[in-house]
Amino acid sequence: MTELPAWWRDAVIYQVYIRSFADGDGDGVGDIAGLRSRLSYLDDLGVDAIWINPWYRSPMVDAGYDVADYRDIDPLFGTLAEAEELLREAHQHGIRVIVDLVPNHCSDAHPWFRAALAAGPGSAERERFWFRPGRGEHGELPPTDWMSRFGGPAWTRVTEPDGTPGEWYLHLFAPQQPDFNWDNPEVRAEFEDILRFWLDRGVDGFRIDVAHGLAKDATLPDLGYVDDVFGRPSRSNHPHWDRDEVHEVYRAWRTVTDAYDGHRAFVAEAWVAGPEQLVRYLHPGRLHTAFNFDFLACPWRADDLRKVIDTTLDWHATVGAPPTWVLSNHDVVRHVTRYGREATGHEDARRQYGVPVDLELGTRRARAAALLMLALPGGAYVYQGEELGLPEVEDIPEHLLQDPTWERTGHTVRGRDGCRVPLPWSGQQPPFGFGADTAAPWLPQPEEWRTRTVEAQRGDRASMLEFYRAALRIRRELPALGEGDLAWDDDVPDGVLSFTREPGFRCVVNLSARPVPLPEQRVVLLSSATTQDNTLPPDAAAWLLS
Ligand code: GLC
Repeated sequence: MTELPAWWRDAVIYQVYIRSFADGDGDGVGDIAGLRSRLSYLDDLGVDAIWINPWYRSPMVDAGYDVADYRDIDPLFGTLAEAEELLREAHQHGIRVIVDLVPNHCSDAHPWFRAALAAGPGSAERERFWFRPGRGEHGELPPTDWMSRFGGPAWTRVTEPDGTPGEWYLHLFAPQQPDFNWDNPEVRAEFEDILRFWLDRGVDGFRIDVAHGLAKDATLPDLGYVDDVFGRPSRSNHPHWDRDEVHEVYRAWRTVTDAYDGHRAFVAEAWVAGPEQLVRYLHPGRLHTAFNFDFLACPWRADDLRKVIDTTLDWHATVGAPPTWVLSNHDVVRHVTRYGREATGHEDARRQYGVPVDLELGTRRARAAALLMLALPGGAYVYQGEELGLPEVEDIPEHLLQDPTWERTGHTVRGRDGCRVPLPWSGQQPPFGFGADTAAPWLPQPEEWRTRTVEAQRGDRASMLEFYRAALRIRRELPALGEGDLAWDDDVPDGVLSFTREPGFRCVVNLSARPVPLPEQRVVLLSSATTQDNTLPPDAAAWLLS
């Protein structure tokens, strides 16, 4: 049998946030039926694969990242049979499918956790999680000072079967998301089996949720300070982030996927200190790829971007893994909004929630950023709606907010709902073809989105949608794009990024405040803004060919 090329090395992967993509059954929440009905849209857009956020049985405390059954689909989204159909149909369209695996924690409704509560202290059932007695005279204080990423302590005290206040269990996220104990062989065996369950159904890969969190220091030391709840590991040898032992898990998983044909691939969600730490997940025999959050987090500044690109490429080269490039996802402020403010980094976006945004500027930069991202060596991610130029929705009424962060922070951090608003497909008013006209989408869509629907943009050459389509088509056609090398062109003004990829391709991004001349004797293949007299305006990018 001839080996197929490893598709994941340069794939463009579209993130389907399923509850907000398309609603097929008319209950206001996106689902598998909706996704199936829109596969031709994705085909036409020109993506190679989709990553689907969790669709498993779940009480939906954290939008499905609290999994009660890893081998079944939640009725909100459909059935296992529909998932199998989706896989078949996507493959017919030439679209690969990556599912989201959540190994750090499950739901408190998972049978193992229920069994652990029932079995009581010292039981084998509790050994699959992190149960510990509390500190203080009566065990009334949490076992460590660790904080939950959604705010508040990372421990919750249980009531024992006999009705007395009992042990505490660890949850790095919401209390309804108990952390698994990955030192326990049963946990390891269970997840290898879950991998096989989905591989047998034809999935092409897995996105690993919180891949840097699985291993804990079993001595459970105090941290000694309050971690920034949204931040990256604040030090090396952190008791629960990015520990060395986590790599044993991935070595074992790799032997599972390697036994299957057709290049099944992993992508790690690992918020680690930097590229040096990230590529440790990508050593030969470990995972295939990881999200490049340094690129996402980088402010819109030429020097910073160049530095991130260089360190990314250099570190990935040391392990032979392709980099990935990503601008947005379901956890961060949409980049049209990030780039439309004065301070443009990911960290800035969190601090500036609700500060007025220049959406015209943000959109211009987002177009330029897309050309930059899609011209870089390796793979790229497109978060649903970025191809429509959707901004963050920052005025969702408080009583409609769903992200557990809002409650857990005592109504101080609004959370991530603003990037999760259901997609506008067509029509003049909500729900914009997302689902049935009779059902309000689970989060309200802004009226202004009438100009951003798929229908409104399709066929309009100036639209974001047609721009993404053109970029993805050219990327597929040009041998210079995808994996490979780049060479910086250094004879460019300050604030301009320009690089060449052979054969004959050049990408120029103008982050300066002045128009810059484009090199002559080159054809402009695609530009993010109108180029006049062969000059590229500020906050624009162009793809050129010689
Ligand atoms: C990841 C997911 C996020 C989720 C968290 C807990 O960061 O991307 O949406 O809330 O893990 O599972």
